[in-house]
Amino acid sequence: MAKWVVREGNVFWPSEEMKKVANISNSDVYEEADKNPVSFWEEKARELKWFKEWEKPYEENLPYFKWFIGGKINMSYNCLDVHLKDKGDKPAIIWEPEPPHGEARIITYNELYKEVNKFSNVLKKLGVKKGDRVGIYLPMIPEVQMAMLACARIGAIHTVVFSAFSPDSLRHRLNDSGAKILITSDGYYRRGKEITLKDKADEGIKDTGIEKVIVVRRTGSNVNMADGRDFYLDELMKDAEEYCEPEKMESNDTLFLLYTSGTTGKPKGVIHDTGGYAVQAYLTTKWIFDLKDDDIFWCTADIGWVTGHTYSCYGPLLCGGTMLVYEGSPDYPDPGVWWKLIEKHKVTIFYTSPTAIRMFERTGESWMKKYDLSSLRLLGSVGEPIGEEAWMWYFENVGGGRCPIVDTWWQTETGGILISSLPGIGPIIPTFAGKSFPGVRMAVVDESGNELGDEKPGYLVQKSPFAPGMLRGVYGNPEKYKKTYWEKYKTMYDTSDGAYIKNGLIKIEGRTDDVMKVAGHRLSTAELEDTITLHENVVECAVVPRPDEIKGEAPVAFVILRGKEREGLKEDIIKLVERKISPIAKPAEIYFVDDLPKTRSGKIMRRILRNLISGKELGDITTLVNPESVEKIKEKLKL
Ligand code: PRX
Repeated sequence: MAKWVVREGNVFWPSEEMKKVANISNSDVYEEADKNPVSFWEEKARELKWFKEWEKPYEENLPYFKWFIGGKINMSYNCLDVHLKDKGDKPAIIWEPEPPHGEARIITYNELYKEVNKFSNVLKKLGVKKGDRVGIYLPMIPEVQMAMLACARIGAIHTVVFSAFSPDSLRHRLNDSGAKILITSDGYYRRGKEITLKDKADEGIKDTGIEKVIVVRRTGSNVNMADGRDFYLDELMKDAEEYCEPEKMESNDTLFLLYTSGTTGKPKGVIHDTGGYAVQAYLTTKWIFDLKDDDIFWCTADIGWVTGHTYSCYGPLLCGGTMLVYEGSPDYPDPGVWWKLIEKHKVTIFYTSPTAIRMFERTGESWMKKYDLSSLRLLGSVGEPIGEEAWMWYFENVGGGRCPIVDTWWQTETGGILISSLPGIGPIIPTFAGKSFPGVRMAVVDESGNELGDEKPGYLVQKSPFAPGMLRGVYGNPEKYKKTYWEKYKTMYDTSDGAYIKNGLIKIEGRTDDVMKVAGHRLSTAELEDTITLHENVVECAVVPRPDEIKGEAPVAFVILRGKEREGLKEDIIKLVERKISPIAKPAEIYFVDDLPKTRSGKIMRRILRNLISGKELGDITTLVNPESVEKIKEKLKL
């Protein structure tokens, strides 16, 4: 069996075999790209099909910048039309339902093209125009990629909302984006249960501008269909015309909005453009995942997150690849389900999160030993730091000691991967994400923006020219865009991550703001606090992350009550969080306390709470007005 990686002590290098076949194996690429990143990206952009070439490749007027100015392109055209001649009969999507509800579907490029064209015409007929926002609230079924591509084809801006988000979360996103159309499904299957998504959608569209709802039939169950407002997709598709001319988008026109948590209570709509995003999605898929014609690529991320957008939809399709899409969860009907799918479809490239890896490590190797995973040749990790133990476990047990692991760092805001090792070049060192992708300039700086030397921890930033896939703003809130990403360093993009560099490789240390990564999901402490304080018995609350063996971090809430503690109150608070945000956000622990540590100006010192529950040194508490609160909390925690 081919070995794609060789080990030298703690460092992993591509094998000769890997170097021979890899899409990129010449290490000069880093230096060459860095000499002139703009011309590097221009050259790569030419691998896509443009209706009209750009007049100017890059322009910067910070905090704004543009790529491929005047260039005309369409994302759906580049994902579909360009492949029809050579790859029409090649599977684009292999879809697997959660067992036992249905059969696998194999959708070729020809079929996907046909469906997307018809879907585009359906949207047009319902009045959707270029620039309109379309909400998508769908599970992992192929119609979700079709819906995104259909929006892209006609120049409508999609905003996908994770199907496990609550109606309230959906409402906020629909209102903020001003969407008039929502695409959802009757329901879906999750861990053996039927989830009636349409009910949640009905609740979520109350008090929004949604005028029409398109419903994909997944479960076939009876759901409420409002006359004149709700339409089944299959019925609309029956009469739809077979061809829809792709809209010629200016490269900087918006492709999608994706809402993500920041340091305030309300998620913000991150804006991504068309051309720059496409180039980054394409090239990172081709070089980091080394995607080739005969690969089967499986990114396990849900489409509701940016990883799903870039690597469960656009990246693989831009490369003309085949991707697996799975409806279910990793542990149902048993923890062997993913490995069974890898064996069945001979998956070659597998991209998942450290949380999933740690979960499987806990469940034990026996589940994967039942299946043949020898088709795998490359593994990836994303979303949170991966510890050495989980890395080695993934390498040995999933990759059989043969496959390189690319630890990819990026964010909703960056659109595509910015830091990773390249599997044909190396080196790969466990727990280090790697180098900046060619043509990208990441750096580690101090508070004042001075670059730090080797092994000095600081703040991770990006320097000019900014990568083509980067966000172009926060929807309807330019102030927030400036404040969040540009206020601190002015000429550098602030990632809000801590990092250091050793031997030229970047090690990510985690967020430096009030954002938690719970099972890889991005949650803001403020959003949870705002929700918990909505409870009538809660006066004040502070939420901080606690280290968690499986999920990386878990939210813990410290709550000051109005009146006395009563039975069932913790459960009520948890239910409130589930209802208002999502079950993924529920606190792992709630402590009722009399007081919270505060500064003279009344600011809660979350750092102290964070250190308390993580068992770390408390640090300076002399600035507190109420140092005694810390002792009392310690008693509560039985420390
Ligand atoms: O803290 C970093 C962490 O995830 C954050 C971005 O979260 P989100 O926008 O949800 O996007 C996740 C998927 C792209 C980052 O600020 N993060 C992402 N990748 C890694 C990571 N932390 C460590 N290692 C990574 N490979």
